[in-house]
Amino acid sequence: MKDPKIKRVIGKVKDLPTLPRTVLRITELVNDPKSSAKDLARVITDDQVLTARLLKLVNSSFYGFPQKISTVTGAIVLLGFDAIRNLLLTTSVFGLFSKKVKTDIFRMELFWDHSLGCAIGAKVIGDYMRYDKVEELFVSGLLHDIGKIVELLFLPEDFGKVISTAREKDILMAEAESRVLDYTHAQLGEMLAEKWNMSSKLVNVIAHHHQPALAGRFSKEAAIVHLADILCRAMDIGSGGDNKIPRLNNDAWNSLQLKISSIEPIAEELERQFKDISLFITTEM
Ligand SMILES: [Fe+2]
Ligand SMILES: [Fe+2]
Repeated sequence: MKDPKIKRVIGKVKDLPTLPRTVLRITELVNDPKSSAKDLARVITDDQVLTARLLKLVNSSFYGFPQKISTVTGAIVLLGFDAIRNLLLTTSVFGLFSKKVKTDIFRMELFWDHSLGCAIGAKVIGDYMRYDKVEELFVSGLLHDIGKIVELLFLPEDFGKVISTAREKDILMAEAESRVLDYTHAQLGEMLAEKWNMSSKLVNVIAHHHQPALAGRFSKEAAIVHLADILCRAMDIGSGGDNKIPRLNNDAWNSLQLKISSIEPIAEELERQFKDISLFITTEM
């Protein structure tokens, strides 16, 4: 990364938004096998906005619990640690960036739909494959293209060039980046994930979602996000900034060991879950 521009970006990393402290603390607790529901409840209840958001979410029709859930501990017991972390992370990340970004060359709401669609898609594929950490897949899908937002915020001229090249030549944004820039949104996303102290799995999946084989021991997870990305584009769920459907990487597909006939039930489940949750999350911001 010798390009002066990427150096400039690295220089600006300190200005990248930080996740709210509470969300970081929750991530730590979720990763700590010794932590209890009580510890987690204490951190959440200290933050009134998060508490209100969480209770609203668990009482939404998405979860469809017959009784009203009025305490944070109740929500944790019913949904589990990981699910709680995801909900809070999703609403925090969306909230964090949505206020800052105002642009007419890029439709933010479609970008968030794309991110949420990939998050749900990755989780649905994981469930289908009986992968045991589907909640991590959700977070990976949610953040896979976050580098595009970093590009938009910190290198708006480059971002404009990429968007116009992608449109003029009818190519993917990732391809336009490689033609007009010396860096990609995947590299920028990797930087942000590192800054947020995300796990090395997450950092690698974000960095290599367009070439899953390069993610080393996390190439299977990267392949899942890669497939979720393509599915969302094929199904017209949101937009990642261009209207292209990338080719499914052969090695990635083989590593998943899925049958082609499994795509249809996965797509149906993705569509169902997306409809349920997107209504709720987008009206939340
Ligand atoms: Fe991407
Ligand atoms: Fe994407």
